[in-house]
Amino acid sequence: MSTDDSQSRMEAIVSLCKRRGFIFPSSEIYGGFSGVYDYGHYGTLLINNVKQAWQKNIAQERLDVVLLDSAIFMHPTAWKASGHVDGFNDPQIDCKKCKARFRADHLLESFGINADKQPLEFINQELDKLRGEKKLVCASCGSADVTEAKVFSLMVKSNLGSPTDALTEENVVYLRPETCGGIYLEYKNTIDSLHPKLPFGIAQIGKAFRNEIVAKQFVFRTREFEQMEMQYFHHSSQTKELFEQWHKDRWAFYLEYGIPEEKLKWYKHEKLAHYASEAYDIEYNYAMLGGFKEMEGVHARGDFDLTQHAKFSGTDLSYFDEATKERFVPHIVETSVGVARMTLAFIDNAYTEEVLPATKEGESGETRVVLKFDKRLAPIKVAVLPLSKKEELSVPAKEIWKTLSKKMFVEYDDTQSIGKRYRRQDEIGTPYCVTVDFDTLTDNAVTVRDRDTMEQVRIPVVELTSYFDSLF
Ligand code: GAP
Repeated sequence: MSTDDSQSRMEAIVSLCKRRGFIFPSSEIYGGFSGVYDYGHYGTLLINNVKQAWQKNIAQERLDVVLLDSAIFMHPTAWKASGHVDGFNDPQIDCKKCKARFRADHLLESFGINADKQPLEFINQELDKLRGEKKLVCASCGSADVTEAKVFSLMVKSNLGSPTDALTEENVVYLRPETCGGIYLEYKNTIDSLHPKLPFGIAQIGKAFRNEIVAKQFVFRTREFEQMEMQYFHHSSQTKELFEQWHKDRWAFYLEYGIPEEKLKWYKHEKLAHYASEAYDIEYNYAMLGGFKEMEGVHARGDFDLTQHAKFSGTDLSYFDEATKERFVPHIVETSVGVARMTLAFIDNAYTEEVLPATKEGESGETRVVLKFDKRLAPIKVAVLPLSKKEELSVPAKEIWKTLSKKMFVEYDDTQSIGKRYRRQDEIGTPYCVTVDFDTLTDNAVTVRDRDTMEQVRIPVVELTSYFDSLF
């Protein structure tokens, strides 16, 4: 896909998301707030379904993973122990002329230089080479007056419990930059209360905050986001086998929810984050972003986390295996994915523009935009559309809506032509539309229209609930 194609796809999807109430830029009435987004009605339903799908896969359908919902605020020393206070940085460069900010590693990447997690000296050497070749210019204004790279902390500070002017190294409280921190701190309470045997996992969904230098590409990289993380505690002798198993399990999840295998690939990190001993990403081919990008990480974290927290807290976090009589600090395999990044992949994969043939509804040659989500992810499952606002149709149509909405989100729409209403439901990805027409009054049946095929079938009203039960 060319840059032009991906750009126009990006524009079309961003516009659809806003127009149809999926995703809004934050604080728009105040001129916006960069790197933060709000989810509207359909967006909220969509991300809830994405989170539910993840939780079902990672905890509900397994006996060895339990859930947690830990607080965003944690003891500040926890972030010292984890290495985030000193080491959670990105290299930043500034344009002296227009004051635009960039990530130096991303800029080098655009020249084919892999600077991922490389030291600052390496990055500055490579920048100097580009400067010497007169290739280093500001991507925003084209000026060559660009600074050296310097370290920029991604940690977001809060003044919780202390006046802002008294913020010091010792009393600063952070908004968590990843959710797994809470899992390590509740590892002991989980063991003591639920008594799981190793290997077992703790999974949680929650907000994380990062002072990203550049937050762009829609919700792909934002400063406030949600993560879905699972930490799998085990004996180090099992790491290889478990790491491979989690690779397979996470890959299978995406296939199950309709992402074709050719849109996924593994990326092995050569340079590792300070905690990781081995790290892979599942990359998704975001057509709207012009190619493969990190969606989910699967990391082997060794015993780094529990060892560090044991050291800094003075609490013993070792595990005693009754069967082998061995005491050891568990190792961890982690799976970690952003809710928005996964949701964006599902939107990108679902977004389809189709030219209607003459035989189908609507004008021949008209383009319909349809989000072909897996039915389980679709925000609205069914739309009830009476062909007229007259009471003789609205009464039975509302009755159908009432019955179906006990089980799922169902929309009721009686405005504009039926063609326009179908298009609206296509754009939000509703799998089925139920049309109540004047024949319904005599045959007690309705027309059910399928989003993807646009085929229609006539179903008796009394059978509708069981019909949809079988489809969902
Ligand atoms: N606990 C490990 C960890 O947080 P990470 O690679 O920094 O690792 C994991 O983040 C996942 O979280 C990423 O693969 C991505 O899906 C999501 N993520 C990270 N930073 C993000 C951001 N600024 N905006 C949206 N999602 C983000």
